[in-house]
Amino acid sequence: MKRRTLIKTAAAGLIGANLPTLTLAMSSANKAGSEHYDYILTAEPAKARIASGGDSDILGFNGQFPAPVIRAKQGKLLRIKFINKLDEATTIHWHGIRILNSMDGVPNLTQPPIPPGGTFLYEFTCPDAGTFWYHPHMNSVEQLGKGLVGALIVEEDTPQDYHDVILGLKDWRLKNDGSYLPLSIPREAFRDGTLGTIATVNGMQKPTIEVPAGERLRLRFLNMDNTRVFNLSMRSNAAYIIAIDGSPIAAPLPLDIHPTGAGMRLDAGFICPEEIGVEIPIFDMKGRFGVEICRLKTVAPKTKTTKKVGIPALPINPIPAPDLSAAESLSFVFEWAGALSPSDAKGQVDHSFWLINRRAWSDHSHQHLPEPLATLSLGKSYIFELHNATPHHHPIHLHGLIFTVLESDKKDITPFHTDTILLEKNERAKIAFVADNPGKWMFHCHVIEHMKTGLMGYITIA
Ligand code: C2O
Ligand code: CU
Ligand code: CU
Repeated sequence: MKRRTLIKTAAAGLIGANLPTLTLAMSSANKAGSEHYDYILTAEPAKARIASGGDSDILGFNGQFPAPVIRAKQGKLLRIKFINKLDEATTIHWHGIRILNSMDGVPNLTQPPIPPGGTFLYEFTCPDAGTFWYHPHMNSVEQLGKGLVGALIVEEDTPQDYHDVILGLKDWRLKNDGSYLPLSIPREAFRDGTLGTIATVNGMQKPTIEVPAGERLRLRFLNMDNTRVFNLSMRSNAAYIIAIDGSPIAAPLPLDIHPTGAGMRLDAGFICPEEIGVEIPIFDMKGRFGVEICRLKTVAPKTKTTKKVGIPALPINPIPAPDLSAAESLSFVFEWAGALSPSDAKGQVDHSFWLINRRAWSDHSHQHLPEPLATLSLGKSYIFELHNATPHHHPIHLHGLIFTVLESDKKDITPFHTDTILLEKNERAKIAFVADNPGKWMFHCHVIEHMKTGLMGYITIA
């Protein structure tokens, strides 16, 4: 079986890129200016070996897990012909891309759901380079939970002197024999969300990933889990943060512990030791203790590299700077109906448990659109004052735009760009952006169960 082979190859630990890259349906034209990327992508039921005791029925992009990595170039046309081979409707969302609204992949809000057997041509250019990802935006607890998550890498216009290593983090709700535990448990959904039981990096449990000795690595961490926060750390001062959620930071910062909520990414620069066989563990910190998620191991480089010195900053993306003096402020309060029971007598989940500005998106099928949370004027600057009035953290994500985090009452902020902000319990934060992308943009928590039980809305820019 082809899939099996792929998974085995990955387990053997190929250097760096141990993930399948999506084959180009057509080769990209080389004429200057007309370079483009064409892919064919499916979503389909498949089998994969995640648990040690048996195969699992997964949903896989091109029938694979990990999903193929989609690579494109900043500013060049990317075309993905998507074929829905699931037995239910879906749409595909390109997380973090400042995209055309009609390509954003939100059912009923930006496009009709793609029925089983249906196809949809996603066609857009990515204005920003960086680490992004793609996933369905329908029946997400199950579709994402069972494997439909993949990396979308947008390469810089000018090549960077880094060796890419993709680290796709996803936990699974599986028993040891490979069968599923319930993907969502109501009492957990109304707290921090239901955690997985088997943690994987690139589809493997605690893998050892071979990396070329002496090379400068760009570790692209993607938290593609439905629920979990990873407090990423290498417990050394050798790694530097170079980008947060796809957006480069102006000057690389030493990576101490970086909280990375569901949907969020982190790019870290790291120069590998020159000796062969050195192992470098990577941790999710729980307080002072580190849970190892995977380790790097140096092997002889395939090609001779020059000695690497320093961690260069990545080129900054063309995000417009908001005019803070003229910006209009809007406030968003994230609340919960904490005193209420999260499910009724029949055990049915309450779909309006979490609230944004006292409203839930209770028709989670999106068949009846609620009013937008706010309507913004195209081209104007806005400050969103966010208040997490719940005793739980929420990674709050905005589609179609990249915003600047200005301040928080819980930590010192050096303003940075992102598409998702991890709000701690009771935290207040301010974010700002130029409303330069017209359309209807989802604004939601990326803990998938929170989103499905109310913590989701949209803003309109017109
Ligand atoms: Cu990853 Cu609605 O987003
Ligand atoms: Cu998104
Ligand atoms: Cu949440």
